[in-house]
Amino acid sequence: MPEPAEVQRGLQDVVALESRICFIDGRQGRLIYQGYDIRDLAARSTFEEVAYLLWYGRLPSAAQLSDLRARFGALRVLPGPLVQRIDQMPADVHPMDLLRTSVSALALFEPDETKPGASSIGGAQRLTAVLPSILGQFHRRRKGLPALRARPDISQAAYLVYALLDREPTELETRAVDVALILHADHELNASTFAARVTASTLSDLYSAVTSAVGTLKGPLHGGANERVMELLDEIGSVPRTEQVVRDKLVRHERIMGFGHRVYKVEDPRATILREWARKLGEAKGDLHYYELLRALESVVHREKGLYPNVDLYSGAVYSLLGVPPDLFTPIFAASRVAGWTAHVLEEYQDLRLIRPTAKYVGAVDLPYVPVGERN
Ligand code: COA
Repeated sequence: MPEPAEVQRGLQDVVALESRICFIDGRQGRLIYQGYDIRDLAARSTFEEVAYLLWYGRLPSAAQLSDLRARFGALRVLPGPLVQRIDQMPADVHPMDLLRTSVSALALFEPDETKPGASSIGGAQRLTAVLPSILGQFHRRRKGLPALRARPDISQAAYLVYALLDREPTELETRAVDVALILHADHELNASTFAARVTASTLSDLYSAVTSAVGTLKGPLHGGANERVMELLDEIGSVPRTEQVVRDKLVRHERIMGFGHRVYKVEDPRATILREWARKLGEAKGDLHYYELLRALESVVHREKGLYPNVDLYSGAVYSLLGVPPDLFTPIFAASRVAGWTAHVLEEYQDLRLIRPTAKYVGAVDLPYVPVGERN
């Protein structure tokens, strides 16, 4: 048998395709969307502008932005049969499972959008607009909150807070959520985006690609980490206990969630920005408990392991300060990353090549076949 090339476990450092959407400079700690530095976008832009940027490769004009806002507003309404299905789901399932199944179900009610190709931009906008509605429909029922109303007038960030918490966010809270959505909107070939591109590369449809992506994001080594960070903070409880809890975990070879990254060798620039928002929100609410624990955790983990924080370290604290329950953290990540997933799927359709790597076979060959009746 011919020897395949050396195995790159986890496809680490493998350059799988060309893309114009997102660039990560892991050594300098820089993140670029379509040419724009994430720090400028987080300081000056909105999620709607960033979604447009990811899809179309340029920032929108004022008219294009207002058109996209109006489209998002109109597309937030869920089809009646999907509302019924969401209401029939068990109330104790994880919202990521509910989201995965609902994205898949939505495709059944939007058959015109399931044709792969450039027309998938319609599906990209619908999915981005509607994810908060799916989550809100489910979460409100399980918590006994009033039914979701159409809110075409407000931004995606404010709508997310309204859908999940049934309240109007303050200006500071809206901006904090908007920044979190901007920071999570894309990240090159992360596992869920790669899953979406693999699905699209078979000429499957956008909804199937996003269903694959939601299932992939769910894992604790990817989107699920921020939920685990908050569990860790609860376990630590107070700043003086940080050192002992971290050391005990490291002795047991456990991973400390919210630290380390496959690409960044320095601090993740998204963590730098979210740290400031965790502080600002904490100050506004007179509650710096999480912020102080996280600062202590950062310093111990860096000293003990030389690891830097990633985006998941501070996002949970930001959402907790808003009153969001931990099992909705990863779904909020999905409500943002859907812009990136769909931008990558659209790019895949433009330059389609079936993604199909090879494996180095390490199993047996030429075994003698034993009939079933003669096997022990
Ligand atoms: N806590 C403790 N040790 C960690 C660590 C963490 N968060 N992240 C990496 N390491 C250690 C590994 O144990 C390994 O040590 P070893 O060589 O002594 O065995 C070394 O660093 C390299 O880890 P590896 O898993 O090969 O790196 P990776 O590139 O595959 O890891 C992650 C990337 C994100 C999967 C990893 O850093 C991790 O599990 N982080 C925690 C989960 C998380 O926060 N995910 C969100 C990512 S945005």
